[in-house]
Amino acid sequence: MSTLLLVVGVVVGAAYIYRDVVVKGKRYTSKVKLHGKTVIVTGSNKGIGKTTAIGLAKRGARVILACRNKQRGEAALMEVKRESGSNQVVFMQLDLGSLKSVRSFAETFLKTEPRLDILINNAGIYLQGWTEDGLGMMFGVNHIGHFLLTNLLLDRLKECGPSRVINVSSAAHNMGKIDFDCLNTHKALGLGTSGMEVLQVYSDSKLCNVLFTHELAQRLQGTKVTCYCLHPGVIKTELTRKANFVKDPLLKFLTAFFLKNTIQGSQTTLHCAIQEGIEPLSGRYFSNCTVREVCAKAKDDTAAKKLWELSERLCGLA
Ligand SMILES: NC(=O)c1ccc[n+]([C@@H]2O[C@H](COP(=O)([O-])OP(=O)(O)OC[C@H]3O[C@@H](n4cnc5c(N)ncnc54)[C@H](OP(=O)(O)O)[C@@H]3O)[C@@H](O)[C@H]2O)c1
Ligand SMILES: *[C@@H]1O[C@H](CO)[C@@H](O)[C@H](O)[C@H]1NC(C)=O
Ligand SMILES: *[C@@H]1O[C@H](CO)[C@@H](O)[C@H](O)[C@H]1NC(C)=O
Repeated sequence: MSTLLLVVGVVVGAAYIYRDVVVKGKRYTSKVKLHGKTVIVTGSNKGIGKTTAIGLAKRGARVILACRNKQRGEAALMEVKRESGSNQVVFMQLDLGSLKSVRSFAETFLKTEPRLDILINNAGIYLQGWTEDGLGMMFGVNHIGHFLLTNLLLDRLKECGPSRVINVSSAAHNMGKIDFDCLNTHKALGLGTSGMEVLQVYSDSKLCNVLFTHELAQRLQGTKVTCYCLHPGVIKTELTRKANFVKDPLLKFLTAFFLKNTIQGSQTTLHCAIQEGIEPLSGRYFSNCTVREVCAKAKDDTAAKKLWELSERLCGLA
C-alpha cells in the first residue's frame, strides 16, 4: 500500500515538474520599451494573439487589434487596455478570409496611422470550408490573406525600418506538403473533411507560412525589414475546439494539463517581435524563444518561389 502511494506521489510530482519546466517553456523577460512604435497583431481578440497584444501594449507600443468581428474586437480592446494599463490600443476590422476586407483594412491603416514597426501575422483557423473568394479556408486565411496584407504594408514597413514581420506558424508544418496540382485546380491545399484531412490541410497551410518567411527574407535583403516565423507551443486555446480530438474526459483532463496557457503561448512571438540583435536570423524559424533548424522541405527555394508567384496571381498582385 505505502509503495503504491509512493509511486503515485512520484508520478504526480514528476508530472507537475515536467509541466512547470518543460511545457511552460522560456519566459521572455527583456525590459526593452516600445514607445513610439506601432504594431499590428492579427486575430488578437482571443488566444495567444490577445496575450501578445497585452505584452506589447505593456511595453509602450501602439497596438492595432486587427480582428474580423467588431463586437469581439471591441470587447478585446477594453480588455487589452485594462490589462496593459495603456490607452494606445486601437481596433480595426480585418477579415483575412476576404481579399476585399484585407485591401480595405490596409487602406484605412495606411491613411490613419503614420508608422508600422512590427506586423504580427497571428490569426489562424483550423476548419475546412471556402472563403468568399473561393479559396480553401485554411489556405485563404492562414496564408493568402496574410500574404496580401504583408505585401500591401511592405512599403510602410520599409520606410519605418528597422522593422519586422512575424508569422505564427506551427510545428505541424513538419507534416505539411504543398500539392500544387490541387492549388491550381481548386485553389485549396487539399480537400476533404475527415479529422486527418483537416489536420493535413492545416499542416500544409503552416508549411506555407514557413516557406514564405524563407522567400520573404530573400526578397527583403538590402532593406531594413527582417522576418521570422515560429511555433508558439501547444496551447490551450479555441483553435481546435471544433475538431474535438479527444473525447474521453480523463484523457481530456490529462492533455489539458500538459498544454501551455495563452500567456506562456505568447512568449516566442514576443521574443521575435522585440529581442534586439536577432536581425541576422531573418527568415528563420523559432520555438521556445530559440532559433531552430527546419527540415529541407521548409527551406526549399524552388517551392517557396513557386508558391510566392502562385499567391501573387491568386490575390491579384501579379
Ligand atoms: N493553439 C495551439 O496549440 C497552436 C499551436 C501552433 C500554432 N498555433 C497558431 O497560433 C495562432 C493563434 O492561434 P490560437 O491558438 O490563439 O487560436 P484561437 O484562440 O482560435 O485564435 C485565433 C484568432 O484568429 C482569428 N481569426 C480566425 N479567422 C480569421 C479571419 N478570417 N480573419 C481575421 N481573424 C481571424 C480568430 O478570430 P475569431 O474570434 O473571430 O474567430 C482569433 O482571434 C494561429 O496561427 C495558430 O495556427 C496555435
Ligand atoms: C524551453 O526552454 C526551457 C529553458 O531553457 C527548458 O527548461 C524547457 O525544457 C524547454 N522546453 C521545451 C519544450 O523545449
Ligand atoms: C507570413 O506568411 C504569409 C502567408 O504565408 C506570407 O505571405 C508572408 O510573407 C509571411 N511573412 C513572414 C515574415 O514570414
